[in-house]
Amino acid sequence: MHHFHYKKNELYCEDVPIASIAKRVGTPFYVYSHATLKRHFDAFDGAFSDVKHLTCYSMKSNSNKALLALFAGRGGGVDIVSGGELYRALNAGVDPGKIVFSGVGKSVQDLEYAVSSQILMFNVESPQELLKLNDVALRSGQKARISIRVNPDVDPKTHPYISTGLKENKFGIGVEEALGQYEKATKLDGLDVVGVSCHIGSQLTQTSPFVDALRKLKELIAQLKDMNISIRYLDLGGGLGITYDSEMPPQPSEYARDIKSELASTDWTLILEPGRVIVGNAGALVTKVLYAKTSHEKNFFVVDAAMNDLMRPSLYGAYHGIQPVKRNPGEKLTADIVGPICESGDFLAKDRQVEPLAPEDLIAVMSAGAYGFSMSSTYNSRPRVCEVMVKEDRFEIIRQRETFEDLVRGESIPDFLTVG
Ligand code: LLP
Repeated sequence: MHHFHYKKNELYCEDVPIASIAKRVGTPFYVYSHATLKRHFDAFDGAFSDVKHLTCYSMKSNSNKALLALFAGRGGGVDIVSGGELYRALNAGVDPGKIVFSGVGKSVQDLEYAVSSQILMFNVESPQELLKLNDVALRSGQKARISIRVNPDVDPKTHPYISTGLKENKFGIGVEEALGQYEKATKLDGLDVVGVSCHIGSQLTQTSPFVDALRKLKELIAQLKDMNISIRYLDLGGGLGITYDSEMPPQPSEYARDIKSELASTDWTLILEPGRVIVGNAGALVTKVLYAKTSHEKNFFVVDAAMNDLMRPSLYGAYHGIQPVKRNPGEKLTADIVGPICESGDFLAKDRQVEPLAPEDLIAVMSAGAYGFSMSSTYNSRPRVCEVMVKEDRFEIIRQRETFEDLVRGESIPDFLTVG
């Protein structure tokens, strides 16, 4: 459920007509519904309220400071994967004691920054990282709390690019190898072994792969106990899917029920790293039709947003619903919605049944709150679009549209090109 709906054939976000936002900020733009963000966070976090847990929002899905501040204000932490994300999180007021750091390629600088920020936990993904983190911690006179990110080898049954917990994937350490690494970690003075973690993939539409992974983690924790290594945190990662088209993913309450049923009589603090399920359906990308054209009997609507603004359709063949901002009772036609970028892969929707559209009409590309803006680029020298948050009958810009000056910021022409 989200707060994008029609009133008298006009698309609203909460109580604000989308067209009125376009009039003020221009197009394209991302718009997020505050009520939806809040409700999704609370529904997810609340589903675990009867067990010790921490919801670490996976900020790679949408790292705008306003969203981070909203979730932090509701008790959330974050899952980060880079120094840049740590900076954003701290800047938005997230408690460092609620930050977990995953990622296969953490640089020394990132490790130093996170150690000195005293984050909750590093999810270590390789034997070499373990040693490097130990060095960094010793050098800064601190102890780094760690879990080992285990690759449980379960099939999340999702798109291959976003499945991460199979043994052929680059993530984590195999369960068999993990025991030895835990033993090693307990002997390293810079490290404090506190957890076990995994993340098996994204956009999962069933709970069984999560339960399978959890069972493997439980077996590992039992073996660690036999080695006198006790664990405080069990981090299950993120991955719960959403409805883009006709998918029927489990509700957070069902997901929580299945996970909690595996945790009876344990004392671990459960860490969850949801991204998409919280923000995905809380946002839309609004774009304007520039041209309507028919070539070789195919209908195209060329809009002012492109693959650089929302790359999921091009990269994964992902489906995003297309909604006209003003409904038109005319007969539907089949068309591609494409952007201005010079690549055939630049499309937002293919062979879609849409109402007739004309230049200046606005459309909303739905379910774009997760991995939309955060994956955008300036390809074709297109400034990144602005982001807006709506709360009831008002809205605010939460990120300014970039300018042409922003495009060349930091670039320079070397003297040897101009002198001589
Ligand atoms: N934790 C870790 C360690 C992750 O790598 C991810 C996502 C998450 C949590 C959050 O997963 P979520 O709850 O959002 O499914 N760009 C792709 C998705 C890539 C996901 C990467 N990792 C897309 O647009 O579908």
